[in-house]
Amino acid sequence: MPMVRPWEGLRELCHKYGDILGMTIMGSPVVVLNSANDISQYLDGHSATTSSRPRSASQELLDLTGLFAFMPYGPEWRLHRRTMWQYFTPTAVTKYIPAIQTSSRITLHKLLEAPDRFEEHFQDSVGATLMKVVYGLDAKYENDESLMTIDKGLESGRESLVPGRFLVDVIPILRFLPPFFPSQKRFSRLREQTARMYDMPYSLHKAAAMRGDMGDCILSDMLSQFTSKPDDNIYDPTVNPVGDRVARGVTAVTFAAGSDTTCAVLKTFVLAMSLNPDVLKRAHAETDAVVGPTRLPDLEDRDALPYVYAMYLETLRWMQVVPLGLAHNTTEDEQFGDYFVPAGTMILANIWACMHDPNTYHEPASFAPERFLRDGKLDPEVRNPNDFVFGFGRRICPGRHYAESDIFLTMAHIIHVFDIRPPVDEDGREVAIEPRMVNGFVSWPEDCRCRITPRTPHAATLIVDEFAQRLNQG
Ligand code: HEM
Repeated sequence: MPMVRPWEGLRELCHKYGDILGMTIMGSPVVVLNSANDISQYLDGHSATTSSRPRSASQELLDLTGLFAFMPYGPEWRLHRRTMWQYFTPTAVTKYIPAIQTSSRITLHKLLEAPDRFEEHFQDSVGATLMKVVYGLDAKYENDESLMTIDKGLESGRESLVPGRFLVDVIPILRFLPPFFPSQKRFSRLREQTARMYDMPYSLHKAAAMRGDMGDCILSDMLSQFTSKPDDNIYDPTVNPVGDRVARGVTAVTFAAGSDTTCAVLKTFVLAMSLNPDVLKRAHAETDAVVGPTRLPDLEDRDALPYVYAMYLETLRWMQVVPLGLAHNTTEDEQFGDYFVPAGTMILANIWACMHDPNTYHEPASFAPERFLRDGKLDPEVRNPNDFVFGFGRRICPGRHYAESDIFLTMAHIIHVFDIRPPVDEDGREVAIEPRMVNGFVSWPEDCRCRITPRTPHAATLIVDEFAQRLNQG
């Protein structure tokens, strides 16, 4: 298994061995699918038998098994997934648009004030929106204790998804080492961080609810579904044990799976803009014509902004957030084409290879949103990245509609009011940035430094006015 940006090395191997690669990793069978057809046929077509997850000793030691993204296929996973999905259907996510709009306006204002810190602003914005929607809490946007606690808690999830990061996954008996061993101490520290991630925002929400200071949010609605009597205290785990378990898991997984991924796309977007001034110019022309100078774009403008929407698709295609997807596991012995796949085989989908297939996308390394358009409209004949980057079968990302609304709106806002150019050195010369993805399970650009400046003085005023208006609305 290639270790550095394995998605590239795996595609190289296909030239020698074919699109379906079989191997053994740490004694377990692994199949890597590299073609769009095989991925759709196997992971979508055989979803009843390919929708489990591999278990790892580290995930158990880190107490991550309550996050349904890591659960094997079965009733517990189904209960969590169904509980989450009702809040993230295309219709349900329309409820969160006001929260997304507020966060995006705050982000524009932050970009105006401190453009160099754009990565932090993206992270704060994505986290604050989820905090509002999921827990009903108003985050501070900077140095917010809950957001920082959640971010620390996510460290264990990030680490455990990197194959080979923990020796215990290779030699499971190591889990029985005594607590004073350095590896056990590390697990203990990470476990504490995970526990705080589950508990802290939950407790803040509960305290606010007890004070009668809590509006609509996913958590309280979810908890109330699991009690039978209207007077039951939904927050009492002895009265509502299932609700407590499921709600803690679902709220935490929403952050775990939703924050790094969404931020990564926004970073990819600004890098693409700084490297492709012609694309940004064309997008400026589109939002100027459709939206005009007196307001910011809205989600209702999406159909009238096909080029901006194509930029969203191209951003997802150009650099994938999860280039090898999240591993699936098979639950039955079965035949796939000419291959026998035993139960318990790990299946990896090389999403990057599908999104960089030169037979489908001309010059796949270039950033060219127009590849998705024909006669000014989206071309249904072109492979849609939405069908790949969010995964497959019964495990397809349940946050995909929310992610699209959040990312599209933030992108459209930034386009409408900002210019994005490459960074400059001390002598004022533009620095050439090499677009390269980091070598992680969740990936983003290695270097996305850029200069973000308001397009015009009028655009700067619009940002300030829109920000002030939102604050006045509460
Ligand atoms: C652009 C942003 C995002 C990308 C590219 C993305 C991608 C993915 C991928 C590839 C998977 C694995 C699917 C599979 O196993 O085949 C996944 C799973 C998941 N995603 Fe996302 N995701 C994004 C945003 C979000 C957001 C915003 C949320 C929450 C609101 C979310 C929640 C989840 C959950 C809970 C799972 C686990 C599903 C399961 O195991 O049943 N994701 N995502």
